[in-house]
Amino acid sequence: MEPMIKRMRVRLSVTFGFLVLVLYSVGALVSLGVFQQGLHRSTDALLVDLLSEVRPAVSTSSERPSLKDWDRAARMENLPVLATIQIFDPKGTLLESYGPPGVGVLTKGRVHVSDEAGDFRSVYQPIMRQDKQCGFLQVQVSTAHDDRSLNELTTAIVLAFPGLVGLVAFGGYLFVGMALRPVELTMDLLRRFVADAGHELKTPLSVIEAAIETIEHVHKEHNLSELETDMIRSASKRMRGLTEDLMFLARVEDPMRAFAKQVLSLSTLVEEEVQEYTPLAESRRLKLEITSNEPLEIVAEPESFRQLVSNLLSNAIKYNEPGGSVFVSLKKDGLQARLTVADTGIGINESDMVHLYERFYRADKSRSRGAGGAGLGLAIVKAVADAHQASIEVVSTAGEGTTFIILVPLAASPVSREKKPVERSGA
Ligand SMILES: Nc1ncnc2c1ncn2[C@@H]1O[C@H](COP(=O)(O)OP(=O)(O)O)[C@@H](O)[C@H]1O
Ligand SMILES: [Mg+2]
Repeated sequence: MEPMIKRMRVRLSVTFGFLVLVLYSVGALVSLGVFQQGLHRSTDALLVDLLSEVRPAVSTSSERPSLKDWDRAARMENLPVLATIQIFDPKGTLLESYGPPGVGVLTKGRVHVSDEAGDFRSVYQPIMRQDKQCGFLQVQVSTAHDDRSLNELTTAIVLAFPGLVGLVAFGGYLFVGMALRPVELTMDLLRRFVADAGHELKTPLSVIEAAIETIEHVHKEHNLSELETDMIRSASKRMRGLTEDLMFLARVEDPMRAFAKQVLSLSTLVEEEVQEYTPLAESRRLKLEITSNEPLEIVAEPESFRQLVSNLLSNAIKYNEPGGSVFVSLKKDGLQARLTVADTGIGINESDMVHLYERFYRADKSRSRGAGGAGLGLAIVKAVADAHQASIEVVSTAGEGTTFIILVPLAASPVSREKKPVERSGA
């Protein structure tokens, strides 16, 4: 799978998982609240029923209301009293209490008794005698049973959480993978299109190049102007460069492609490339110098890595001023090789930094086109670096210069060893 798609897939799965878990938490809190309210309401309804059941049994024949007769009858029939039933005088003093111990004061709703006894829910109503209030009847039940139900639900919700996390992560990853499939196919199609188009352009380009040669010959023989032929030649040269870069990029970015990696002397490669670019640097009155070149080996595909170094050197020379310099250095940095290409050129603006590796992106368009670049060089550098577990750093100050640093695992380091040797596939 394409590294970009893979990163996108992980990022989307994490976002998806996070959203689901937030929804789950909110849903759990809401259902706990609703459940608790429901429990309270049903307990209170039960207590009100109980009140109206017990109320007729309250004797109001004497000064104080009493349930003594009712209690006696209940005892005779051996009826258990499950709720606390209490009689109060009009001032709220407890007169009688039956059933399990409760709270000895008039109170409504939930009331805390003690840590051992727990909480109670309580309901009361006045007792009337000849239109005069002569006391209160109160019933109470412990909330222990309700609390236990609530605790069990809370525990179930919490226990389900880790399982849900796993399920959401797995499901999300699969789902996002499915959703990204069309994107992946489109990118694949695009890459194949570029590669095919590049390939198809090669033949007509060769024809043009051959024809130009003949025309140039004829022009020379007849002493005709070479202006037009020069224009065609330079255009076909640019087109050849462009097609080759596009095809190379399509090849490097192909996720199915196996790189023909081998142990490679990076110092030799650097030396060869610097030699290659020396005439160009001299023609632009630039100093191109290797400041340090430690003999280091990496595991890389030579052709690709040469492109990387070549593009960095070409940029450092292209985006420079006459009299400027380009310094190349290769040093060991822990388990990595640190390749630095520093120039004293025009530099890169902060705002261009983020787009640097995009295809066809040129910071200074007039200058780049004049210099013949199409904006594919750094896209190639990035693709090659990615394929070699290498990182790129850029430090640049506009008007002062730019430094590109490539950090790539050394041949003996664990990262590179795990990748070697990779043979080129049959194609
Ligand atoms: N060493 C450098 N100094 C200044 N600008 C640079 C340097 N390297 C790259 N750039 C900027 O980044 C753009 C993209 O570079 P690249 O992908 O190699 O394309 P190009 O074909 O234009 O060289 C260039 O057009 C240039 O504006
Ligand atoms: Mg370039």
